[in-house]
Amino acid sequence: MSPFRLTRTLPEDATGAALRADVLQGLTGSPRTLPPKWFYDARGSELFEEITALPEYYPTRAEREILLARSGEIAEVSGARTLIELGSGSSEKTRHLLDALTGLHTYVPVDVSESALTLAGRALAAERPGLDVHALVDDFTGSMTLPGTPGPRLVAFLGGTIGNLLPEERTAFLASVRAALAPGDALLLGTDLVKDEEVLVRAYDDAAGVTAAFNRNVLAVINRELGADFDPAAFDHVAVWDAGHEWIEMRLRSRERQTVKIPALGLAVDFAAGEDLRTEVSAKFREERVRRELDAAGMEPVRWWTDGEGRFALSLSVAR
Ligand code: SAH
Ligand code: TRP
Repeated sequence: MSPFRLTRTLPEDATGAALRADVLQGLTGSPRTLPPKWFYDARGSELFEEITALPEYYPTRAEREILLARSGEIAEVSGARTLIELGSGSSEKTRHLLDALTGLHTYVPVDVSESALTLAGRALAAERPGLDVHALVDDFTGSMTLPGTPGPRLVAFLGGTIGNLLPEERTAFLASVRAALAPGDALLLGTDLVKDEEVLVRAYDDAAGVTAAFNRNVLAVINRELGADFDPAAFDHVAVWDAGHEWIEMRLRSRERQTVKIPALGLAVDFAAGEDLRTEVSAKFREERVRRELDAAGMEPVRWWTDGEGRFALSLSVAR
């Protein structure tokens, strides 16, 4: 059994205060929005794991295929002694990377979901003697405080999660990743690719309704944390392709005219019948844009791989 540590970098009440600020801003604006990180309480993390196994949700399988084929090369190019993974969730696919990174000293999974981090981190520490696992409960869109672990460092950001950031957030995020790296350190980035609209929409609106349950879970989080009275059944799950932005938009559509009370904010929110609440975007990429954005952040793209069907890409870039 190797050491497992968990550090909560977010200050004591930060989660509550940040949730209140986000919900206040998002629900009083027009159109109404909520930031996606609030999906991931313990139940949300479980539902996401179910999504990854759905027949319609290809990104996890496609990315796993690439990792299986390319982990050796990733280990060779990066020579990593520390692997930092942002939005690590269950760390399931990461196992292929950990198998290949033979010189690895420390694994630092970073996630807002403490339950997912604890579950994954304890299992990995138990399975991999000699690997130091130091989990961080932190928000990767903020200024992360990473432990002073040995270089070279490899930052992994998998699952296409970068697509859940809006364009301006993405630029700021890539700059902050670059700032955390020394020249020669590497970034392994998973990006879902632009493809047939039908395939994309089905990946976010599955027949079994798991994604719908995941989307509605954010309302249960607000009910529990802020004493709100959302009726999740009064909202339909909607996934639409926005061809202009090249992103999938996840929404909750009010089935009727209704008023939702949020006592912790002293707020009552009126929804018109058919009014949408945007809960997430999931941007899809083309190679050219990924390269351009990495380059602009001071990262030199050195490898670009896709799965056999060209659905998903993994890129490796090195800090200049
Ligand atoms: N990397 C995994 C999980 C992807 S789901 C995979 O590829 O399957 C996205 C993950 O990012 C979830 O575990 C979620 O809890 C986490 N997450 C979302 N927003 C975050 C944020 N702002 N800061 C840190 N983690 C976040
Ligand atoms: N990063 C995942 C993605 O964009 C998150 C995700 C998958 C998601 N399915 C979802 C978020 C449904 C909200 C609703 O693919």
